[in-house]
Amino acid sequence: MIVNIDDLRKVARRRLPRAIFDYVDGGAEDEYTMRANQADFRRYTFRPRVMVDVSQRNQATTVLGERVATPIILAPTGFTGMLWPRGEVVAARAAARKGAIFTVSTMSICSMEEVAEASSGPRWFQLYVWRDREIVRSLIERAKAAGYRVLVITVDTPVLGQRERDIRNGMVIPPRIGANNVLDTLRRVAWLKDFVRNPRITFGNFKDTLGVRHDPVSLASFTTKQFSPAVSWDDLDWYRSVWSGPIAIKGIMSAEDARLAVEHGVEAIVVSNHGGRQCDYLPSAVEVLPEVVDAVGGRAEVILDGGIRRGSDVVKAIALGARACMIGKAFNYGVAAGGQAGAERALDILMAEIDRTLALIGRPHLSDLDRGAIRATGAY
Ligand code: GLV
Repeated sequence: MIVNIDDLRKVARRRLPRAIFDYVDGGAEDEYTMRANQADFRRYTFRPRVMVDVSQRNQATTVLGERVATPIILAPTGFTGMLWPRGEVVAARAAARKGAIFTVSTMSICSMEEVAEASSGPRWFQLYVWRDREIVRSLIERAKAAGYRVLVITVDTPVLGQRERDIRNGMVIPPRIGANNVLDTLRRVAWLKDFVRNPRITFGNFKDTLGVRHDPVSLASFTTKQFSPAVSWDDLDWYRSVWSGPIAIKGIMSAEDARLAVEHGVEAIVVSNHGGRQCDYLPSAVEVLPEVVDAVGGRAEVILDGGIRRGSDVVKAIALGARACMIGKAFNYGVAAGGQAGAERALDILMAEIDRTLALIGRPHLSDLDRGAIRATGAY
């Protein structure tokens, strides 16, 4: 029975080949940060108010000026199209139906144009900074032409984190069936049928890009070859010259960098450690959130990314000062479990949990939330 996000995770684990499940489910090295992202929400409990009329509740809000039905944003996750045919399209459609923002990743399997054509909902585009500026310029121009509203620049990936599950599984993209995984893959009949019947899984945004190879490669070597380890704050001015819409910087984990981001005029800061997939032994995103919110002082919107598995986690983050929360693994489990219906289920679960929490703590609207709504317990 599927009652919560963890149930969707279990279905995803049964349906996906091991290497693909582990790619989605895993983190870097000891996975300390990945676990802390989730566990640290347990350091907070609620301070409920009772005898408050909560008959009219609403989790609608605005994010960077756009009206949305929920503060949940689907994070840019790489290769969601490996989980289900046209995975990014089905996830974007699910988001649109629920009134949530969908962020397409540079490393999507469906191209950003295909996603734009298939979904009428609010859409953001996530950019990895490539060594070749002409590739970056062309991605940004395509995003603009396809109607993406916000540019999310990920800044925590100068090199790829060491994901040991992927190394052990021999994970490559596009996925390859070989001696090391043939038995495991043959057991995943439903996934395998989809895999052989559908177009080849490849880097959808780079079908016509010179210098981007499409034969199986580990994500680590792809990143080393293509991503720039030299990105600095000065580069932001250049982004401004080619992108006129709002910019969100994703991967901020300190007050110092939050201040610098604001000084460089970004509209939003995404507090994120990349779901614990990059540098291990960073603190959790929720631990750093209050420090960033205080440093920003309302000069930009702050978005929390990392560890959300419950609607109550979203409520806690908003009470701490986040405007919205990104979910990554949570919606990927849904896509893997059941395509668009699975992604909608993930959103339904989280939105119902947010709604119920707001009722039970006597804060019927997101604007009723502040730090007085929660209590830091320090314990798990
Ligand atoms: C890609 O962005 C990843 O985290 O695997």
